[in-house]
Amino acid sequence: MQVLIKTYGCQMNSYDSEAMFNILREKFSAQATDSVELADLVILNTCSIREKAEEKVFSELGRWRKQKEKNPDLIVGVTGCVASQEGESIIKRAPVVDFVLGPQTIHRLGDMVSKHRKKPQKQVDVSFPAIEKFDHLPKPRPSGVNSYVSIMEGCNKYCSFCIVPYTRGEEVSRPFKDVIKEVVALAENGVKEVNLLGQNVNDYYGQLDDGVGDLALLIHYVSAIEGIERIRFTTSHPNAFTRELAQAYAEEPKLVSHLHFPVQSGSDRILTAMKRGYGASEYLDKIAMIKEARPNIAFSSDFIVGFPGETEHDFQQTMDLIDKVQFDVSFSFIYSPRPGTPAASLEDNTPLSVKKERLALLQEKLLHYSTMHAHSMKGKTFPVLIEGMDRKTRKFLQGRTENNRVVLVPGQRNYIGSVINVDITEICANTLRGRVNNLSTKQPMEEFCEATEI
Ligand code: SAH
Ligand code: F3S
Repeated sequence: MQVLIKTYGCQMNSYDSEAMFNILREKFSAQATDSVELADLVILNTCSIREKAEEKVFSELGRWRKQKEKNPDLIVGVTGCVASQEGESIIKRAPVVDFVLGPQTIHRLGDMVSKHRKKPQKQVDVSFPAIEKFDHLPKPRPSGVNSYVSIMEGCNKYCSFCIVPYTRGEEVSRPFKDVIKEVVALAENGVKEVNLLGQNVNDYYGQLDDGVGDLALLIHYVSAIEGIERIRFTTSHPNAFTRELAQAYAEEPKLVSHLHFPVQSGSDRILTAMKRGYGASEYLDKIAMIKEARPNIAFSSDFIVGFPGETEHDFQQTMDLIDKVQFDVSFSFIYSPRPGTPAASLEDNTPLSVKKERLALLQEKLLHYSTMHAHSMKGKTFPVLIEGMDRKTRKFLQGRTENNRVVLVPGQRNYIGSVINVDITEICANTLRGRVNNLSTKQPMEEFCEATEI
């Protein structure tokens, strides 16, 4: 079975796509293909966070319809948040679709495909059977030195603009034991960096044998796992960011000096209308608390411009907040009304042209600070996790700094999978260049093997 899975949206979707592929590989010895012409099964793992993401679903399905006319045996599935939101109406609008599967039931994918192969039929499953999903997913098979680990699902925050609580359901945390087992298995297979995932990851409260533990405790446990060198977690909600979690930055050197910490807006009035539950000064207090524990930490954020009722003054307050925090590489979006969310029924008088201008100004400011961060790295030494050889020339080692910058370094292949200290020598548009620091404390795992020194 040749399978093509096309993924849109967040890291959670990437995790789910990988899990779906593992199911198909175990059950049908499936292989991955990039070509829809060669595929026996195509799956669109969708995102509905903004209108644009949703529009892509039906244009892609239009292309796949043509392929199904040529190959009537082709099985077409839609998964992810659009599946969850639209359910069987997807099949009505795009009859090319054979099955619709919500994000909480992807573990039933194998059975659905088997059923279809026995007797072609339309199937829809967008139910929310709590944590069952993780109990039935095959063990992840890492293909590199870093891996996502989903530790909780769903969101109870109900920010007024956001569709996630409706498509991914209530917050459910995986028990400690399950997460630890997964990370140990990943470490045994060469993974050095884990990214603990949740829509609202710092609301993680996992079952322990004798009670419940929070994300700070989980980080201490994961830090103790041999082989794991780096820990990230996304996405944090400022309100749920506790003192204990900030303290983990002081105690656990494996936690990276980078945090994605979405603020959305710098205006208290807009933050209230968004139902974020904090104001600009509370956000800045959290930043100060985290910096106290890890002074050199870099922050990135998400911003929404043009939320209903946003005035020029509100927008200026967002710009001021960016000046205060000086964010590293961040994401920014024009507000997109999502059907069924409270904000979708708010009056919105700001013309799109004004929203676009605001977005351009905001992105210019963000670029100013992210460039400043990159330039401030020149001449300094940073730990870099070497992930492989660079894709273009295959001559340089390619790795990442803790603040997610790609670095190219001349060196030997046996550094792959190690965290080494790199002196940053050059700042290019999308990458940094560097050389291995001579006083690097971490040596490569083996002495010289097939050296490709350049
Ligand atoms: N759980 C995360 C965010 C999930 S969605 C949090 O706590 O912030 C990722 C980002 O998409 C959000 O941070 C927000 O900036 C953006 N987003 C969500 N809904 C949106 C909408 N309706 N219009 C525009 N951007 C939106
Ligand atoms: Fe969305 Fe807010 Fe949750 S942005 S994912 S409702 S924290």
